[in-house]
Parts: sequence; C-alpha cells; structure tokens
Amino acid sequence: MAALSSPQSFLLQHPLHPSPKTPSFPPHKQPLRLKPSTVSCTAVRPPPVSLSVANDRIFNFAAGPATLPESVILKAQGELYNYRGSGMSIMEMSHRGKEFDAVIKKAESDLRRLLAIPDDDYAVLFLQGGATTQFAAVPLNLCAPGDAVDYVVTGSWGDKAFKEAQKFCKANLSWSGKSDKYTKIPSFEGLEQNPNAKYLHICANETIHGVEFKNYPTPSNKDAVLVADMSSNFCSKPVDVSKFGVIYAGAQKNVGPSGVTIAIVRKDLIGNAQPITPVMLDYKIHADSASLYNTPPCFAIYICGLVFEDLLEQGGLLEVEKNNTKKAGILYDAIDGSGGFYVCPVEKSVRSLMNVPFTLQKSDLEKKFIEEAAKEGMVQLKGHRSVGGVRASIYNAMPLAGVEKLVAFMKDFQARHP
Ligand SMILES: Cc1ncc(COP(=O)(O)O)c(C=O)c1O
Repeated sequence: MAALSSPQSFLLQHPLHPSPKTPSFPPHKQPLRLKPSTVSCTAVRPPPVSLSVANDRIFNFAAGPATLPESVILKAQGELYNYRGSGMSIMEMSHRGKEFDAVIKKAESDLRRLLAIPDDDYAVLFLQGGATTQFAAVPLNLCAPGDAVDYVVTGSWGDKAFKEAQKFCKANLSWSGKSDKYTKIPSFEGLEQNPNAKYLHICANETIHGVEFKNYPTPSNKDAVLVADMSSNFCSKPVDVSKFGVIYAGAQKNVGPSGVTIAIVRKDLIGNAQPITPVMLDYKIHADSASLYNTPPCFAIYICGLVFEDLLEQGGLLEVEKNNTKKAGILYDAIDGSGGFYVCPVEKSVRSLMNVPFTLQKSDLEKKFIEEAAKEGMVQLKGHRSVGGVRASIYNAMPLAGVEKLVAFMKDFQARHP
C-alpha cells in the first residue's frame, strides 16, 4: 500500500489487504473484488479537511497581494476539492461550462449591486495583466495617437500610468505632487487641463504614498471623461460610477487574489481602439465576449465573487466605509498622538483609509519596530522600497482587532524607547 503524504492525496490501496486505518467504503463505492493474481489500485477519498478556524492566522498588513476575509478563505477551502458537487475543483473546469458561467455572471451582478453600476451604460470586464496593463489599455482604447490627454500625478502609480500613456498619445502632466514627496492632492481649480484632452486620469489611492482622493475633479473639456486607477481602494467605499469613463483595479488588494483586473468602462467609449491595439487590450473584444474571449483567470474571478458576496452580506459599501473609517481613525490618532515619535507625512485631509505610511522620528528604530511587530504576529509592515519607513495596509479584510493590536504594539514600543 502506498500512502501519499498530503492530507489531500489519495490513499492507494490494495483491495484485498485493506489497512485498518483507512476509511470504510460506502456501499456504492465498494472496490472491485478481483482474483488474487490481479493487483489493482482503487482511489479512496480522504476524510474531509476540517474547516475549523485555527488560531494561526496572523495579521497581514501587506499592500498587495493582501489579506482576504477569513470567511472567504474558508469557503474556498470547503469548495476547493469538489466544487458544489461537480466532482472537480473550480481550477479544473472549463471556463465555458455551466458552473463557471454561473460564477462569472454572479460575480459581475454582485459587483454591479455593490457599486450601483448601471447595466445599460457600463460594461464590467474581468481582465488580465494587472493594473499596469491598463496603463497602456486606457490610452489605446480612448484616444488616437495625436490626441491630448491629462494626468494628475499624486504618487508613483499615477506617474507610471502617465509615462506609459506617453507611448500612445500626447500625455500632459496636469499636476504633480513629486516636489512635495507625494503627500498632497491638488485643488481642482489649480489643475492645468488641456481644453482638448480626451480624458483626465487620476490614481484614486496611491498605495505607496498613502494619499487618497476624497472627491473627484471634472475634466474641463465637456466631452472628456475621468479615468481612475482604483486598484488600492476599489470597493472600500461607495463611488458614483457615473462620474467616470473608466475605472480599473487590480483585484489583489481589496477584492481578491492577483491575476484578475477589473475594468468598468462606459459603453459609448468602447469600440474606438487604436489599430495597433493587441486584442488582449481591446475593451470591445472583451465586452463582446463577456470577458471570455480567451481563458480568463477563473480561480481569481471565483474568489472575487466570494468577496463581493461577503461585502454585500456586510451591508454593502456604506457599512464597509464606516468600518474602514474607524480602523484608519484609530491608527492615524495613534500616530498623531505619539508626540512626534511616529510621523505620517501625508496632509490630513487626504490621508488614505487603506494605506497608512509612517516613519519613526528615530529612524534607526524602524527595522527593530518591524521585526518585533512580526514576532507579535503583525507582518509586512515595511514601507515600499522606494520610500522606506513603515506602511500598514488596512484594506477591507483587515479586522479591527488587527489595527487595535498594532496600535497597542506601537504604544508599547514607544514606551520602551523613550
Ligand atoms: C494604485 C496601483 N496601481 C497599479 C498597480 C499595479 O498593479 P499590478 O501589479 O496589478 O499591475 C498597483 C500595485 O500595487 C497599485 O497599487
């Protein structure tokens, strides 16, 4: 008899010499009784994996891929081996079969409910290539090579989007926060907008620098549209989708694993891609085929669907926003109340609810802070390599208890380093 080590693996068993440790066969799965001279292997399903919540989950403050709701992980675990009686996992089934068809349709309709996305006016696309691919897809789909477009750059991601757009059209810098180390959002009156720009691009939440738009500028050209990279605050609060021509977001911060990027695109903008646009970047191709032009990232879409269900069960995005405001408030209060021991450089009115960057006044203590926090079960607190310091990403799925534990640790650490 051979037994594979993983609990998920089959026990390969000689039918005539069953081990007393193996589970008994239900009547309909009795192994064949063969003549003694014949050796056969029969697959025996292992007992179901226990779905109890072990106390070994840590608080993961990573910026993305990031923590997911525990209930979603457990549900996915329960469905992983045999998806809803189909006899296979969601990772193994055809993206054109009835099970996955139901998964992607429900994910889309739940997302539409969450964000109140009008059916008639906007397409919801499940794409690949990350938000980075959208840096190129947006200009390729929305303008001709000679067209002007405007970018407001409030951090590194907006800057990357701006630089990519320069390859495909005439991208102007309407405003940059670089000289202030990306700690501000501009007043909208001060934006230098091109009167002929086809769109105005913003990054709604800068993941590295922790600056977040609290309201949105309007393009000065009445025919232009607002485009937003919402990767790191997608579904963290209600958003009036009708203010935007395109919203795009990599899933791996707030709504799922990496591998799927969601684009919400106003339908009248679809169908004008530049001729050089690769099919995989053409919104029309994906809209016409309901995100199934080629093999989509099925498992990632499935997990997003579970997250959307979970957000709806929580009461929708207003409730989610309330929780996020509370969590961020506790953390920023701890920083501001530390008498300068901890410092958040971002202007108060535009501090992100999702990514909280801060430094220690005694910068030589930062490494120790991060290491000790990790020993206490709070990980991934290192600031982005481009800016250093500490960053706590507290997306939707970070429990209040995680933020409270971090704040208690911060106070204790400060007390120990007077
Ligand atoms: C705001 C923002 N935009 C774009 C990206 C790039 O996303 P991806 O890695 O999915 O291409 C990130 C990644 O962290 C991000 O935070």
